[in-house]
Amino acid sequence: MKPALSGTVALVTGASSGIGAAAAAALAAQGAAVALAARRKDRLDTLAADIRDRGGTALVLESDIIDQQQATEAVERTVAELGRLDTLVNNAGVMLLGPAVGAPLPEWQQMVELNVLGLLYCAHAALPHLLRAAGDDPRRVADMVNISSVAGRVARSGSGVYNLTKHGVGAFSESLRQEVASRYVRVSLVEPGATATELVDQNRPEVLESIRSQFGQQMQAEDIADAITYIITRPRHVAVNEILIRPTEQVR
Ligand SMILES: NC(=O)c1ccc[n+]([C@@H]2O[C@H](COP(=O)([O-])OP(=O)(O)OC[C@H]3O[C@@H](n4cnc5c(N)ncnc54)[C@H](OP(=O)(O)O)[C@@H]3O)[C@@H](O)[C@H]2O)c1
Repeated sequence: MKPALSGTVALVTGASSGIGAAAAAALAAQGAAVALAARRKDRLDTLAADIRDRGGTALVLESDIIDQQQATEAVERTVAELGRLDTLVNNAGVMLLGPAVGAPLPEWQQMVELNVLGLLYCAHAALPHLLRAAGDDPRRVADMVNISSVAGRVARSGSGVYNLTKHGVGAFSESLRQEVASRYVRVSLVEPGATATELVDQNRPEVLESIRSQFGQQMQAEDIADAITYIITRPRHVAVNEILIRPTEQVR
């Protein structure tokens, strides 16, 4: 039997580490040709080599998606070099925590520019291609999977701007879902809880200490990749709109 996603093409942003890398590998294992976008090309090269060693197809796109032109080019190069776009996993994101009072403004700017605008640039560029793929064989359905967070559901002290960006991703996803559902582009939201990745490492040392002291059980990136793969491999008439997924012991 053919793998579920053979003949399809997926673009994963933030594919150089964590959830994005695991999702790209998982989609490749299901037969999708995958385009890998992020800034750290060496990491993408290693992942692409691994996917090719397993018989898959991978395209490396060194891209800073905060830059609108680079985000658009990542989408356009995927279509030019792999032939189409069936799946966009909007995963690249940054979480910079700490009190709002006295917070460094560049941290707020980076979160809004990447988690919101970067995601929107990729979504905007991808939509015409997703709509085309949804009208075409082999699956006659296309997917945009937007990675939000438990922080997109519940706001917490010290997390205000990250909360703002992820709540925004949720609102945009639901609106877009309603707009394109009848054309068989499924827009889905994945909201992970604590997952062991490099995400927290970007925080200032004093913030890092307090985040780490609050950390309990964590999921693995592969657990979230599983949820993403589940969404994308559903049959055409099934749209998984939203998955909220926490480590079992995470209460809030
Ligand atoms: N880990 C968690 O507990 C958790 C929980 C809920 C939600 N999430 C969400 O999951 C997503 C993935 O995060 P992760 O946990 O896997 O963290 P991660 O390991 O730090 O991955 C973040 C990815 O985003 C990429 N990225 C950062 N800035 C970028 C830019 N300007 N242009 C392109 N790519 C950029 C990074 O690649 P480069 O640095 O190479 O560019 C990296 O591949 C994020 O949206 C995050 O908010 C994570």
